[in-house]
Amino acid sequence: MMGGQVAFFCTVGRGMERFVLHEVSAKLSAAEVESLPGKVFFKGNPDLCALRKVKSAERLFLLLHRGPPITACTGANSWERPPGGGGQLWDVFVALRSLVQGDVSLWPETLRVWEAFQEQLPPLGTSHGQEKAFKRRSDTDQTEPKAKTWRGETEEAAAPQGTAPDPVTHPPVGHSAEPVTFRVSCRCAGVCAKTMTAQDVSRIIGVSLSKQFGWKVDLRRPRLEIFVHLNDMYSVVGFPILRQSLANRDYIQRAGLRATTAWAMASMAEIDTAKYILDPMCGVGTILLEAAMEWPHAIFLGIDKSESQLKIAVQNVTKAGVMGSVAFLRGSVLALPVIPDSMDVVISDIPFGRKFTFSKDITELLPDIIHQMERVLRVGGVLVLLLSQKLHYRLKTNYKFKSMEGENLQDGGSQCGSEDAKAEEQTAESTLDFPTLIHVESHPVSLGSTEAVIFKCKKSSRAATL
Ligand SMILES: C[S@@+](CC[C@H](N)C(=O)[O-])C[C@H]1O[C@@H](n2cnc3c(N)ncnc32)[C@H](O)[C@@H]1O
Repeated sequence: MMGGQVAFFCTVGRGMERFVLHEVSAKLSAAEVESLPGKVFFKGNPDLCALRKVKSAERLFLLLHRGPPITACTGANSWERPPGGGGQLWDVFVALRSLVQGDVSLWPETLRVWEAFQEQLPPLGTSHGQEKAFKRRSDTDQTEPKAKTWRGETEEAAAPQGTAPDPVTHPPVGHSAEPVTFRVSCRCAGVCAKTMTAQDVSRIIGVSLSKQFGWKVDLRRPRLEIFVHLNDMYSVVGFPILRQSLANRDYIQRAGLRATTAWAMASMAEIDTAKYILDPMCGVGTILLEAAMEWPHAIFLGIDKSESQLKIAVQNVTKAGVMGSVAFLRGSVLALPVIPDSMDVVISDIPFGRKFTFSKDITELLPDIIHQMERVLRVGGVLVLLLSQKLHYRLKTNYKFKSMEGENLQDGGSQCGSEDAKAEEQTAESTLDFPTLIHVESHPVSLGSTEAVIFKCKKSSRAATL
């Protein structure tokens, strides 16, 4: 089975589906790529090294079952109703049991594929030095995975609710003679959650697996974690392939913005055709770091007013080994020490929330901040900002951007037209708050506890009032 295509799914944060869809198609040449809210399904090669390169997803699973909502599976089994009926509860109970007993070869076969993946992971309890040696070995053999430091981070916070409670500490695997120990982690929503609890579902599946295959429940140190996600749209069962979330980056020493969001922002910024990229409020440098790891050809500049943030940013890029392409400077976004029209991309996470505050209200300062960004961007350059929903709303309703109509967004090529038409356009542009910025798109994303918007503009070919 490892030679052929394998069915996978990833859990994804809200609003991240489009990025994961694109990544698995482009990086893995995946087939049958499909997304549902919070999940992306695909078929691909069992190449752990390549799978780990998916940067916008949360967790990676081997797909065991994907079907309609469990509450829709009524009467499709040979189990007899107890005397007196039993109603919907009985139907759900039977449908859950038939997840295990319906196709008896499915579970052992999926287990075998999962075990083959586990053999590619560094053994648990490996020291940092041993892991590095493992990584070197793995990197020379493209079929092997890259070693991880398996940091237990708080990054699961933005994962869809109910994903992995704790990382499983798999004891070494790979010997099929070993008894399979497992625990079932279930997430129930909708009608199913009204019919039975997640614990009930876990218990029914657990008992069925023990009876059918002799597998043993171990809630503390299971070899295998089984994920069951049930809601009104689908029922999904899978085995997590990695010990940690894909979203945990072993190359980031101190995390700032969530790495998946930083990567998504960078992927919208068209960096593949860019050379100079600026984050004028870079914090600990997460956006630049994610971008530099993915697009190593470019040159990145991070500016921040905080010395302590910059110190961590330097440590971060040093640990990640990208210090050759990322430089940092202390300065203010309100007076950027950068020459006009010099940057291909300006990308930034505008402070919101309690941690980072300006002395003035950020909503008052936002136009000045964007004017500075507009000044340093070259014509045809891209601006990508992460904004709170409130800030995004204020920006869209209170300020005028240039209209997209008739613009050549590909490059800074000159536009021709009559003198009258040009004069008319210049008059119209003089009424705009951001005369050269064209709003391209706003994409909502979840940051876990808060919702945000990735806001993208392009600097237009004309700059009548600047
Ligand atoms: C939301 S944080 C950026 C987090 C960053 N994306 C990361 O991953 O670490 C906002 C940053 O803006 C910086 N900042 C606040 N006022 C600033 C100013 N006037 N000029 C430049 N940076 C400023 C803060 O020091 C903080 O690091």
